[in-house]
Amino acid sequence: MFNDDRLARRAKTLSARMPAPHFPSEFGEETILFDSGFAAPQLLPALGALAQRALTDHREEVLQYASGRGQPYLREWLCDWMNADGCALTPDHILVTNGAKQGIDLICRLLLDEGDAIVVTAPTYFTAIPIFRNYGVEFVEVGQDAHGFDVAALAAALDARAAEGRALPKLIYNIPEFHNPTGATMSAERRVALVALAEARGIPIVEDSPYRRVRFEGADEPLLKALDRSGNVFHLGTFSKLVAPGLRIGWVAAEPALIARMIQLKSEGGSSPLIQRIIYEFARSADFPAHIERVQAAYCERRDGIVAAVERELPGARIAIPAGGYYVWLSLPPHVDGDMLAAKAGEAGIHLIAGSRFFASTGADIPRNHIRLAFSFTTLDQIANGIARLGAVYRSIAGE
Ligand SMILES: Cc1ncc(COP(=O)(O)O)c(C=O)c1O
Repeated sequence: MFNDDRLARRAKTLSARMPAPHFPSEFGEETILFDSGFAAPQLLPALGALAQRALTDHREEVLQYASGRGQPYLREWLCDWMNADGCALTPDHILVTNGAKQGIDLICRLLLDEGDAIVVTAPTYFTAIPIFRNYGVEFVEVGQDAHGFDVAALAAALDARAAEGRALPKLIYNIPEFHNPTGATMSAERRVALVALAEARGIPIVEDSPYRRVRFEGADEPLLKALDRSGNVFHLGTFSKLVAPGLRIGWVAAEPALIARMIQLKSEGGSSPLIQRIIYEFARSADFPAHIERVQAAYCERRDGIVAAVERELPGARIAIPAGGYYVWLSLPPHVDGDMLAAKAGEAGIHLIAGSRFFASTGADIPRNHIRLAFSFTTLDQIANGIARLGAVYRSIAGE
């Protein structure tokens, strides 16, 4: 038996439980997966011809080690893509990563020492929590409302820390669009205020924006990175939510001197040049705009389907309707335990995630009456069937 005393202090924050089954094929047909942010299989693009061409026309390039910072043509494309969205970047501002998650980890490695405080929303993206926790951080949690991140609450929390003589947080992590899990989008006013506050206090912002183009209605709000005039914002992007998560390609946009350091921390030998070439050719092809429209229309239809089904089958739950993204966040009546609902629904073949998993703090006072439902992977029929079955489980718990 391996004695856990030999683990690094950091590793002792990690759960020793093996993850639950992951692939949809590991479950029976009756099982309905509202838990994962898998892409809709019907929307995965046909990339076979591009892969073939990459391996023949660019054989040497795609089979050699990649550039540590990402292939130059992809960084140029990403730079143009972000500049068309209001930024003022050069390719030196871009680091290609193995998904946005690797970007989160690299930023932590760059900025955090054990004992540092960081700001996250309550709730926040649950996969990021163990990554942050592994760096030995203290969490400062800030709430959200319909306009997203509560900047005034953050300003008050920072003032309180300063008054107590405590060090300021080392970063502010947020998902400004179609937040995971709440679906909330920050208003332009809040964005301007957050960028100004963070700059005034000298606290870097990490803008994690995987769902930006998965918008169903309404106009874009400005990127935090586009409002950043001092290099204080790290922007995280990814192709996971718009193209395919299995490609594992994302990026960080930040000041070149910070990118240069992160390149040295990126220990896997460079993100796959084959995949970078395939994505680049797809992104610059005429198929890409049509693909984006297809993605937006299909997820919008699923969003509408799940909202209608929840309103029909779980009338006691309050649903926050997101204008984009992959998830809906349900607030249940206070006496309904989201952990119990998730467990009982799982036994009935309906997989979803209890809201409590999305809180960085572990105390007894975290709200228990929420659940998150992903609508990205399930068909409209599965949504109708799955939410009807969830409604039956809900009624057995809620006594409605
Ligand atoms: C907020 C957020 N950040 C990052 C990711 C993961 O992105 P990637 O697949 O690029 O690592 C997700 C996926 O669910 C997410 O919701």
